[in-house]
Amino acid sequence: MKPIIRKALKSSLAESLATPLSVDHYLGLIDSKLSVDEPRGRIAEATRQTPDSVTLTIEPNDNWTRPAPGQHILFGIDLDGVRHRRCFSIAGAPDENSLEITVKRNGDGAVSNFLVDNVEPGQLVYLTHAEGEFYPNASPPARALLLSAGSGITPMMSILRAWIAADELPDVVFMHYARTSADMIYEDALDRLADEQPSLELVKRFTSADGRISADTLDAAVPDLDERMTWLCGPAGFMDSVQPLLDARTTKPVFREQFESSRREAAHGEGEVHFVQSDVAASGDDGSLLEIAEQAGLNPPYGCRMGICHSCKCRVTEGTVRNLRSNEVQDIRDTDIQLCIHAAAGDVAIEL
Ligand code: FES
Repeated sequence: MKPIIRKALKSSLAESLATPLSVDHYLGLIDSKLSVDEPRGRIAEATRQTPDSVTLTIEPNDNWTRPAPGQHILFGIDLDGVRHRRCFSIAGAPDENSLEITVKRNGDGAVSNFLVDNVEPGQLVYLTHAEGEFYPNASPPARALLLSAGSGITPMMSILRAWIAADELPDVVFMHYARTSADMIYEDALDRLADEQPSLELVKRFTSADGRISADTLDAAVPDLDERMTWLCGPAGFMDSVQPLLDARTTKPVFREQFESSRREAAHGEGEVHFVQSDVAASGDDGSLLEIAEQAGLNPPYGCRMGICHSCKCRVTEGTVRNLRSNEVQDIRDTDIQLCIHAAAGDVAIEL
């Protein structure tokens, strides 16, 4: 959209002409991807790389700004008239005009299951600008280790592709753990890149045959670990077992991204939770405030369920809460908190 048109559409005159609807509503009658300033996109391709995943190539509108390597977005889709938002890593290189995400089936996850089973090209999706600090560097290190498991491979693909696109690929060991070859997303793409790029060494490990990561396997695959900057991403159990191995082997920076709740022992709360606007009371004993709200039949918005996206932010009128990541207990009043990473540590009143 030309800047002069965007400026006109953002004016108070355009807004008042559109009232009681919005300018975006009328733009949507022309093309649902159009919006004055909201990033939106349309799915151009949906590729099933493995039976339980789908890779989406999305063509964004011109409100989208290009991400940095390894960042994530909040992805929104309307299902049965309700907009759901979830957090996904971008897997494509940042300078591509489209963006790519890969979604894995997730137990009872309504959005991921819909995407894996049913999504087709042409679907309109809602985006946020990318966020995340997984790749804070201005330029690649001389040597790198990309170490991932499961869907932790997606931000690694973004970093790797960014290096290749800029013709700045360093000496990289890309070590990835999947349950089997059939479960490994991006296996074909990585095999091709490893054939084409002499400085990329691909180490695939399949836990069904090779077992989980250990000191011996890491030492054998990356004997010069202490000379490499490391990027680490995967499920919480994987991250927990790898971190001490890295601590014992390198003093170089290790950048971590974890797309799974890092809650430890503090999953239990206590006290009573009162959802003020709904006038519903629930026991605070069982899980995060987000889970308690859902168990009570409420539908608070959420995206990542792990404290990244802030879409579950909600005001606590008064009460005592525990941060499930730090275990810190706080007495608060009229304060916005992320429901997914807080539990009740006493009675809590929430504006929901
Ligand atoms: S759902 Fe993303 S921060 Fe809570």
